[in-house]
Amino acid sequence: MPEINQNYNLLQKSYLFTDIAHKVAAYKKANPDHRVISLGIGDVTKPLVPAVIEALHAAVDEMGTAEHFHGYGPEQGYSFLREAVVREYMARGVSIAPDEVFIGDGAKSDIGNFQELLSADAVVAITDPVYPVYVDSNVMAGRAGAPLAGGGFERLVYLPCVRENNFVPDFPAKAPDIVYICSPNNPTGTVLDRDALTAWVRYARKHNCLILFDAAYEAFITDKDIPHSIYEIEGAQDVAVEFRSYSKLAGFTGLRCSATMVPHSLKVGDGRGGRVELNGLWNRRQCTKYNGCPYIVQRAAQAVHSKVGKSQVMKQVAGYLENAKALREGMAALGLEVYGGVNAPYIWVRTPNGMDSWGLFDHLLTKAQLVCTPGAGFGKSGEGYVRLTAFGTPEDTAEAIERLKGLSL
Ligand code: MLT
Repeated sequence: MPEINQNYNLLQKSYLFTDIAHKVAAYKKANPDHRVISLGIGDVTKPLVPAVIEALHAAVDEMGTAEHFHGYGPEQGYSFLREAVVREYMARGVSIAPDEVFIGDGAKSDIGNFQELLSADAVVAITDPVYPVYVDSNVMAGRAGAPLAGGGFERLVYLPCVRENNFVPDFPAKAPDIVYICSPNNPTGTVLDRDALTAWVRYARKHNCLILFDAAYEAFITDKDIPHSIYEIEGAQDVAVEFRSYSKLAGFTGLRCSATMVPHSLKVGDGRGGRVELNGLWNRRQCTKYNGCPYIVQRAAQAVHSKVGKSQVMKQVAGYLENAKALREGMAALGLEVYGGVNAPYIWVRTPNGMDSWGLFDHLLTKAQLVCTPGAGFGKSGEGYVRLTAFGTPEDTAEAIERLKGLSL
């Protein structure tokens, strides 16, 4: 009889957002008359913009003709999209080559998969709280060690991001091999400024560590001094892979498309005393395990980079940022301690009166029919906080605040 990959026995029973979905479904079943507002998982509510819909229609029509039909595409993505991504970087003064851009079916899968290029005994550092994919994908690969009684895993290095350090991770006592950084951050909604990012790039260069930089929320940056890409920091291309997504930028959570940048100058040990480019290895991995993002989706993503497409999606982003502002201000007016939501679509709220985060989740669900994400689900340092997303409709966002006003906290 085959046996499972034992690392799967180390995982928590279910993925955080699946857990929450089950709890909410059970509540809805028991209370069919209550309208539940979800500000839990960061899923978008605005439809695809006209430029994207037009590109999709045109691409679908192409696929119906023998002349323009597309079968298997390049595993790395079509050059029209890779080049559009390159131009996006150029506009911010960053030079990246088309063959350093890999189009994928979402930042979640790219980030989850990328770790498999690295050795099983590599030491991984993560910020805490953290997007669970970074942790779980390393647990699956056997890199995290045994679960600890108080939460977490023995071989992972945790870098707390809490109000006491302004949500900026301190350097670990001993340099890890890999560090995951997400800015604007999921879940705290805070950002790393140029100085903080520069310090991390210098640290990585000095200690030969690899930064896996998640820039999925860069479109939400409003402050002009905050870098949109780690490559805006000198020397970062030698130490960092960057992941970008169309999900939150352009409402592609159901369409799926991402771009992962793997510069040629980024080299790691080959296990035989030499050094090797991660670019070639990622290419090798993708060619074996992936047949490329669908042609019609890549045409839709290309439209996001057009002048008209960009202005349409950025209007939507601005709308979500309005929600973030309303949530921030509404919750602060209730006397709650609120972080994030300025350069990011997430609001990180401290639980009042020492309540724990699942306690506040239950309280909001049962008393206000409002879904949040408990901070503890993102790691030990997330305890004492909940996360709200700005991706709801403006109406639901306003109603959520009204419901909170009527609640004793
Ligand atoms: C979240 O709510 O953290 C995100 O929607 C999850 C994701 O992007 O996969």
